[in-house]
Formats: sequence, structure tokens, C-alpha cells
Amino acid sequence: MIIAIDGPSAAGKGTLAARLAQAYGLRRLDTGKLYRAVALTLLASGREPGAEEAAEAAAKVDLAGMDDAALRTPEIGRVASIVAAFPAVRAALIDAQRSFASAGRAVIDGRDIGTVIWPQAEVKLFVSASQEARAMRRWLEHQARGEAISPQQVADDLAIRDARDAARDTAPLRPAFDAHLLDTSALGIEEVVEIARRLVDAAIPSPRG
Ligand code: DC
Repeated sequence: MIIAIDGPSAAGKGTLAARLAQAYGLRRLDTGKLYRAVALTLLASGREPGAEEAAEAAAKVDLAGMDDAALRTPEIGRVASIVAAFPAVRAALIDAQRSFASAGRAVIDGRDIGTVIWPQAEVKLFVSASQEARAMRRWLEHQARGEAISPQQVADDLAIRDARDAARDTAPLRPAFDAHLLDTSALGIEEVVEIARRLVDAAIPSPRG
């Protein structure tokens, strides 16, 4: 079974993916980390995030040994969204994602999992939330990590990234035609997990038939 979770930044995909992986004993791949790792590799090498440089970094990217905190910064998120729009970068990262999926029993979250990477996923969720709710959640995450950034700056960054992720020509952010749409604006995490579990349970034939 593969559960594909897509949606805009800070909609709650990551938390939901982790909870579903735990509940069903599935492996998990956060594909945003791959794009963030490309951004980090580029910036660390002092190179400009141009298409060619980004594609080279993507071809070599390896999540092992990558520091999670370094990948999570607003700057890396911003550059990740820029490099993710280059077709050569996306192409370089496809095999790793598909090979993870083809091993089965996994939750994979990102922007194009249900549409491009694994359209045959048994369950596809498109998780979204209002701009305000997402900006507030992301700001609270920054606060918890002690990062000084204003709520307005967080809201502006999210709006720019989402517009870029949705407008690109290759694998834009959009729900698969058969995805379940889950608006989490007014829901707590437990409610979101509960709804998602019902959808997953309905998609998996019960062992007792
Ligand atoms: O989910 P995230 O914030 O870690 O993702 C960082 C950026 O990577 C995001 O702005 C868009 C890009 N991304 C993508 O284009 N496709 C994916 N499957 C995952 C992330």
C-alpha cells in the first residue's frame, strides 16, 4: 500500500504523514527534503541557484547525513521552491522517489506524488488549509525553534512559494483527479488523523473480508 499526500506548504502534510506511517507501520519519505537538500548543497557550495547548477546538485543529492535543522530554515525552503521548478532537477529526483515507492508499504508526501511520482497510490490525500491557518502554524514552528521572523514575513514567504509551486510548468502543485481533499483550517491534528484513517481503512480490504 502507498499513501500519497500532497498539498501546499504548512498545510499539515508532514505531521499527518508521520502519524499515518506510525499507525499503519509504513515507511515514510518526505520528498520536500530532497528539494531542500538540493538547495542546501547548492548554497553550501557557494553557487547560484541556476538551472544547471541545481541539476548537478540534484544528481548527487543524498539525504544520509543531512542535518534536519539545516534543511528546515526559511532560506532553504525558499531556494528549494526555486530549484524545484527546474525540470532537470525534478527529473534527477524521480528515480529515488519511485524506487522508494516500488518497495511498497509507504507514506510519501510532497507536491506531485499523486499526480506524477506514484499516480497508482491506493490512497491519495490533498491536504490544504487557509493562508492564515498555514502562516500561523509555520510561524509557531519558527518560534518553537527560536527563529526570529515576523508573522507577516512568514505569510509573504508562503504566498510566494505556493504561487511558484502551483504555477510551474513541470509537476505543478495540484490535486490528482482522484485525491481526497482535506481542508485542515479548522481541524486539530487528531481530527485530521481520524479522517485520514477512515479514508485509508476504506481503501484497504479488511483481512476479515
Ligand atoms: O514540503 P517542503 O516545504 O519541505 O518543500 C520544499 C519545496 O520543495 C517546496 O516549496 C516545493 C518543493 N517540492 C516539490 O516541488 N515537490 C515535492 N514533491 C516536494 C517539495
